[in-house]
Amino acid sequence: MNISHNYDYRTTHRQALQVNWQVEDIIGGEKTLDFRKPFLPEVWVNANGLEFLSDKERLTVNHIRSNSYLYLFGFVEEYIVPFVTDHTRDRIHKAAPEELRALFHFAEEEVKHIELFQRFCEEFRAGFGSTCDVLGSPEVVAAAILSKSPLGVALSILHIEWMTLLHYVSSVRDNVDIDPQFSSLLRNHWLEEAQHAKLDTLIVESIASTMSEQEIHQGVDDYLAIGGMLDGGLAQQMEMDLVSFTRATGRTLSAPEAERYRAVQQQAYRQTFLTSGMRYERFQNILTAVSPEGAKKVAEVANMLVPDSVC
Ligand SMILES: [Fe+2]
Ligand SMILES: [Fe+2]
Repeated sequence: MNISHNYDYRTTHRQALQVNWQVEDIIGGEKTLDFRKPFLPEVWVNANGLEFLSDKERLTVNHIRSNSYLYLFGFVEEYIVPFVTDHTRDRIHKAAPEELRALFHFAEEEVKHIELFQRFCEEFRAGFGSTCDVLGSPEVVAAAILSKSPLGVALSILHIEWMTLLHYVSSVRDNVDIDPQFSSLLRNHWLEEAQHAKLDTLIVESIASTMSEQEIHQGVDDYLAIGGMLDGGLAQQMEMDLVSFTRATGRTLSAPEAERYRAVQQQAYRQTFLTSGMRYERFQNILTAVSPEGAKKVAEVANMLVPDSVC
């Protein structure tokens, strides 16, 4: 196995210390959400695909999706923190000090991100005007994910952290007119995730380096199983969004409209949280170095979830 990178723990930790923003620098006080604007870039929401809705209703869809984005990111961070702390504990008497410092800082930053997403959710609740339902029991989902092999979990985390880059890039591309506070969230989250993606690469390398070919195949299957669990969660969240939409707008969609809503939003959710990461070049390159067959399999599953021609 030969993953091509030039990352090391000392440099990555130093880069992390240079970013190091605080939650109150990003949200709170004067820094509030402007509900006249969309929050998430349209490319991840595809509200325009719901052609039967008015502009105002599409904006509501954007806000509902943005709230679930915040919530779902907080949700996945719930399993990243215990994974990183467990991995760090395993390394405690083996690793050099710079590795341990980088890993402890990584876990601490993810706890800060949970707080950041929670603060945005509070701002959202204060300004949206009606309740938006979200998935429950993040600790149960975290336990199910963490029951998978360390390689499978590490690959899923690598996928998630690279994905935040794509979410940020789309918020600045083509001068998208989204709320500046939400845009700042996407940017600042990525600024720290950039270091996490490097550390994930080093973690994947360290875990996979001692594994047999068969164990690696199992790890890739576990990564896909975690993706399957997340996909199930996204489908449930989409149904909740539909209820939240009616509650917020007073409009009940007709059966064909609801069917169209489900088709468009399932694809949009999958692109936001699954296929964008599965297909991302840097993720695919690392996966190919670990397991060329695994990388091919992941690309095939991505194609089944959302056909390549769509994105
Ligand atoms: Fe994070
Ligand atoms: Fe992260």
